[in-house]
Amino acid sequence: MTLRLSVIGTGYLGATHAACMAELGFEVIGLDVVPEKVELLNSGKVPFFEPELEEVLQRNIATGRLTFTTSFAEAAEFADIHFICVGTPQQSGSYAADLSQVFGSVESLAPYLSATDLVVGKSTVPVGTAEKIAEMLAVSAPGVEVAWNPEFLREGFAVQDTLEPDRLVVGVRSPGAEVKLREVYASMIERNIPFLVTDFPTAELVKVAANSFLATKISFINAMAEVCEASGADVVQLAEAIGHDTRIGNRFLGAGLGFGGGCLPKDIRAFMARAGELGAEEALTFLREVDQINLRRRSHTVDLARKELGGELRGKTICMFGATFKPDSDDVRDSPALDVAVALANAGATVVVHDPKGTVNAERVYPTLTYSTDVLEAAIDADLIIHATEWMEYREIDPAELSKVVSQKNIIDARNKLDVASWRAAGWNIRALGRPTA
Ligand code: UDX
Repeated sequence: MTLRLSVIGTGYLGATHAACMAELGFEVIGLDVVPEKVELLNSGKVPFFEPELEEVLQRNIATGRLTFTTSFAEAAEFADIHFICVGTPQQSGSYAADLSQVFGSVESLAPYLSATDLVVGKSTVPVGTAEKIAEMLAVSAPGVEVAWNPEFLREGFAVQDTLEPDRLVVGVRSPGAEVKLREVYASMIERNIPFLVTDFPTAELVKVAANSFLATKISFINAMAEVCEASGADVVQLAEAIGHDTRIGNRFLGAGLGFGGGCLPKDIRAFMARAGELGAEEALTFLREVDQINLRRRSHTVDLARKELGGELRGKTICMFGATFKPDSDDVRDSPALDVAVALANAGATVVVHDPKGTVNAERVYPTLTYSTDVLEAAIDADLIIHATEWMEYREIDPAELSKVVSQKNIIDARNKLDVASWRAAGWNIRALGRPTA
């Protein structure tokens, strides 16, 4: 009999996992505690922007393989394997992760589970969480097993990363749990996608270790950008040159405004907090520096803006190209672009924010900034433009067209993706981060 799956939590991770598991041919029920989200998903609409996801969702709702509910009883009754995909945000006032949604969803599910069911954690959690859930279920749902199966999907590539992952990692305690997960991922295992079987703590750590490595790589190149600024060197050429060494590799060496989003910043902080609890704080003190280097990119960009505008931000009009934490997403969580926008506004500048997809979410968080979805309109009378999120749209802008609407032709390329020569040729004063002489 084909396995039936439930997916608890329908954020970026859960909605994508549910739709993609249905795409693989499983019958899937997705659960969320927010009725409006469930209603939207059942009508074939994704509550956030993620390329390809809506098509996969609609295709599978149409076949009847995919439905959504708010009822834990219904989800537990329906499925044999339950994927926990709820959020683990940073706690307010602390670096640690807030696990209330993880424990809360397991508690809500437990009374309805059958003894042969498997609960599979996918959320990013502090090491030791799977063990705690196993202890909880041993009391509230005897016989139910736990496994940990971290997810590595990137926003903007969520469908592709779920259906074609670089690797699958499953932390299990019994051959039975491994067999079930091999069945779920059989089509990927057949295509030789690496399937790594580990214990609970290793599976939990793989995820935070991977994100810490990526964050470190970005902050490394941004630290080099600071040295380039001080010495007159060019960080883009430097990154290209070191990236040719295959031991280093050229990916995630994009210097600029640094990392943001719902994962990297909070994951490295939660990792430090957990290491502290485990008495291994010293091992991760470097992550504090990684975080600091990253945050310094934002204040440095504000300082550069002030410098480019002759030492005064008050009374100046600044147009931000980008509000989301990265392109091809509408996610503004911990967005470097918005942080800079707010700091500039606080310093007395009038800030107009343009973004192709993120203005609705941005306005919800920062209602006092001005927003526009038309690039030329956003740039009217600007004294300075800051290219803060590298949407393709900005690379395709004709600098000569933009010249007609701005007040002064000043631009900071905070993502190092614009063609400096063509902007300069159109008469612009362009300044790229980590490239003082470019
Ligand atoms: C990340 C991980 O990549 C993914 O594996 C994990 O599951 C969740 O966290 P995501 O948050 O979607 O995914 O974004 P990612 O593409 O990793 O980018 C993170 C941030 O780093 C963005 O703000 C991006 O602009 C920035 N970045 C990325 C750089 O500043 N330079 C780079 O070279 C690459």
